[in-house]
Amino acid sequence: MFNTMTVTKAAGALIGSLLFLMLASWFASSLYHVGPAGHAAEGEEAPQAYRIAVEDAAPAEGGAAAEEGPDFATLLAAADPAKGERAFGKCKSCHKIDGTDGVGPHLNGVVERDKASVAGFKYSQAAMDMPGVWTPENLNGFVTSPREYMPGTKMTFAGIKSAAERADLIAYLATTTQ
Ligand code: HEC
Repeated sequence: MFNTMTVTKAAGALIGSLLFLMLASWFASSLYHVGPAGHAAEGEEAPQAYRIAVEDAAPAEGGAAAEEGPDFATLLAAADPAKGERAFGKCKSCHKIDGTDGVGPHLNGVVERDKASVAGFKYSQAAMDMPGVWTPENLNGFVTSPREYMPGTKMTFAGIKSAAERADLIAYLATTTQ
């Protein structure tokens, strides 16, 4: 049967292992201690010990957010001017392609034309202050978001979201001449 010595040893062993567990758990929690507020309560999300820095995607030319998918040159090479002619329907209320100006300047021959260079058209100051040529890339940037590309422009058009549609449209404009 149990004598006092056995009971004492058993109790000692038990207390010893409890103490060991307590110390181990204290040590572990001090190792994995997270966040300034100490331990997260049950059911609460523990604050992260560190953050992974994620670089912001570089904005595409013209200030538009970078898009997934093939780049503009690839899209332009595969562009369909016939589809672009249909897309030009979005511009027709303001732009003509017969050399006369409407709300906006005529767009026949606009590809590789100097910016704001249609004689007699009253451009905004923003347009006249922007140097350069309407290359396909510049047109792509402008048509993506006119007001981001040219803050202060008087072209009140939201922009065309689809990169493929813009490429088709620019390919179509490139078929028109001055
Ligand atoms: C609501 C009328 C309106 C619509 C719709 C519109 N534009 Fe314009 N656009 C203008 C005006 C006005 C200007 C002159 C901008 C300025 O002076 O700031 C302009 C200027 C431009 C220019 C610069 C021309 C130059 O000679 O420098 C291009 C390129 C252009 N638009 C392309 C387009 C295309 C492509 C579309 C269709 C996707 C379109 N616009 C739709 C009104 C419009």
